[in-house]
Amino acid sequence: MQNSRVAVVTGASRGIGKAIAEKLAANGFDLLLVSRNEFKLYQALEEMLLKYPGVAIKARAFDLSDAAATKACGDWILSNTSAPAVMINNAGTFLPGDIYKQEEGVLESQLATNLYSAYHLTRALLPAMTAQKSGHIFNICSIASLRAYPNGGAYSISKFALYGFSQNLREEMKPHGIKVTAVLPGAVLTDSWAGFDNSQGRIMEAADIANMVYAATQLSPQACVEDIIIRPQLGDL
Ligand SMILES: NC(=O)c1ccc[n+]([C@@H]2O[C@H](COP(=O)([O-])OP(=O)(O)OC[C@H]3O[C@@H](n4cnc5c(N)ncnc54)[C@H](OP(=O)(O)O)[C@@H]3O)[C@@H](O)[C@H]2O)c1
Repeated sequence: MQNSRVAVVTGASRGIGKAIAEKLAANGFDLLLVSRNEFKLYQALEEMLLKYPGVAIKARAFDLSDAAATKACGDWILSNTSAPAVMINNAGTFLPGDIYKQEEGVLESQLATNLYSAYHLTRALLPAMTAQKSGHIFNICSIASLRAYPNGGAYSISKFALYGFSQNLREEMKPHGIKVTAVLPGAVLTDSWAGFDNSQGRIMEAADIANMVYAATQLSPQACVEDIIIRPQLGDL
């Protein structure tokens, strides 16, 4: 795969990750796709290979909530490219609930999936990316990274932390030529909102997020979009 065109997308089997992968493939990026469930990931891979015959696309399942598996994922990525041009840390799960009522272990599992996944995979790729002195890392945070809300609980804590990771990384990567963008969406119609009646178009589409991410990849090397905050037109639910 050619480095200048390779994008890594985690959580690419469905939802926002799949929409971002498709937008990048439609615009000529080669793709390395990761998610946890092999069956769904290969379904998405087959679909994209048919739709975007001009680009190289590979996929491999890893449980990114597990640090050893995340390290293996980093090795797999670096066996396919010497360094990716774009990296999308999108894998995540949404477990709503109140801090004082949540079961024991929910915070640990939300942090493992929503924060440590991005932290460890980014660290695995950074030596190669800094050696290349270019690249663009996107961290899919949330409006739950910005403000507390009822029922946010461990999810919101994990997304505040992911935003903190993103902001720290942005500062560190300035002299290395690597851009870091935090993406902070409000409600987007994906499996996280399964059962929600969106017939009135109340919440956003995954393609809305994908379009903004792609646009941010298109700026000059001297410009970095630091935050993308995107909400439904009628505001948060
Ligand atoms: N939808 C929203 O309203 C919204 C709003 C703000 C932020 N976000 C954030 O956007 C991201 C994507 O959300 P979504 O709504 O598109 O979610 P989704 O439809 O539930 O998809 C989640 C993706 O993450 C993958 N994933 C989950 N746990 C993983 C793990 N341990 N290892 C590897 N991959 C894992 C899933 O893989 P499998 O298919 O294999 O399970 C799937 O590809 C998340 O970080 C979420 O917090 C979503």
